[in-house]
Parts: sequence; C-alpha cells; structure tokens
Amino acid sequence: MVKFLNMKNYNMNADISLISNGDFGTNTYIIQSLISNKAVIIDPADGEKICSIIKSKELKPIYIINTHGHYDHISGNKHIKEKYDIPICIHPLDKDFLTDPGLNMSGFMAEEYTSPMADVLLFEGKTIKFDNVRIMIHETPGHTQGSISLSMSDMIFTGDLIFKQGIGRTDLPGGNIDAIINTLKTFYLKLKFENIIFPGHGEIGNKLEFDKIVQQFFYTY
Ligand SMILES: [Fe+2]
Repeated sequence: MVKFLNMKNYNMNADISLISNGDFGTNTYIIQSLISNKAVIIDPADGEKICSIIKSKELKPIYIINTHGHYDHISGNKHIKEKYDIPICIHPLDKDFLTDPGLNMSGFMAEEYTSPMADVLLFEGKTIKFDNVRIMIHETPGHTQGSISLSMSDMIFTGDLIFKQGIGRTDLPGGNIDAIINTLKTFYLKLKFENIIFPGHGEIGNKLEFDKIVQQFFYTY
C-alpha cells in the first residue's frame, strides 16, 4: 500500500510518501524535495518495492536512514544499496545490528539477513540537509539502545518508540524498559500538540491521538 500524503500545508519543503511494506507491515517513508528529485528513504523493508516506487516517481535517492537495527526496518537496505550505492545511516549503538542476524532478529526467521555496513553514524543534534529540507536526529533509546527519531518541521518520525496501539517493545534485542520510560518523559512528552507522529508501523496521527496510549502506559506500568 502506498499513500502519497499531502503535507504541503506544513511548509517543510518536502513531500512524504508512506509505503506499508514487508513481512511486518513496516512503514517506510520517502521524503522528497519539492525543488529537485532528491529523496531520503526511512526504514526500507521490501527493497524491490521501494526501488520500483523510486523509479516510477523518477527520484534520486541520496540516503537510507534506519531508525533502528531490527530486521523489519533494514531488510530493504541491501537491494537499495546495490541499485543506487547510497549511504546507510544509523545510530552507532545499532550499527552492529546491520550485520548480525542475532541482533537484527532475522536469525529467528527462515533466512538470515545481513545489511551492508553503516556509512554514516547519526546521533543527537545531527541534521541531514538536502536542498532546503532539514531532518533533525533525536536519540530516543528504549526499543533499542540506538533507536532514533527524526523531526522535520512538525513531523516526527518515531520508528518503534510508539504506536497508536501501544509503546514499542522492550523485550527484543537492545530493548530496555527504563530507557523507553526516560525517552517518553524527556522526548515524547515535550513534543507540542501540533506535532504529527509518523510511527514505524500502523497509522499516522496527531500527538493527541498518541497521548492516550502514553497516559495508559504510565497508568498501568
Ligand atoms: Fe523494532
């Protein structure tokens, strides 16, 4: 499923496409400049599918960004890297997930998967810039130690930190419940009500829609 989202009202110099793809319904986002065909791919799952969309839209991909190193968020890296030879960007604490099937969890599946190695390491405060698009990196550990969120204007891409149905799991490789609680308090709760959350799975929504699940989490934890 591909959704071409109309986000031009947010004055952020880019268009966003959401592609729900792969074995686990990963949300892959393609952020495309409005003044050129340059694009950034966030969390590619089905590499062939993402490449066919890039081709049909005549885009020029310039980065792959992985919000964390689990299989379902990196499984498209290899195909895209082979086709376009663009840098793979991930937080240093998750870079080893790329090449370790035990950490990225593909070792539990029918076929082990390894991604090409990281080319660019992302950490708090770093900004990815192309044309007049600015994507800021935020360290949001908990689901994995090296989980990051990305912000672009009011859009917040949260990987597996939070979904409309619940908080990201902390029982998988790299997970830590205390870390995710700290991230919710120091990052998520400081977001503004006008922020739009783009999660790694499931529906997009405004922050108020996601607040319910956070309140429920803190009430029951
Ligand atoms: Fe994950």
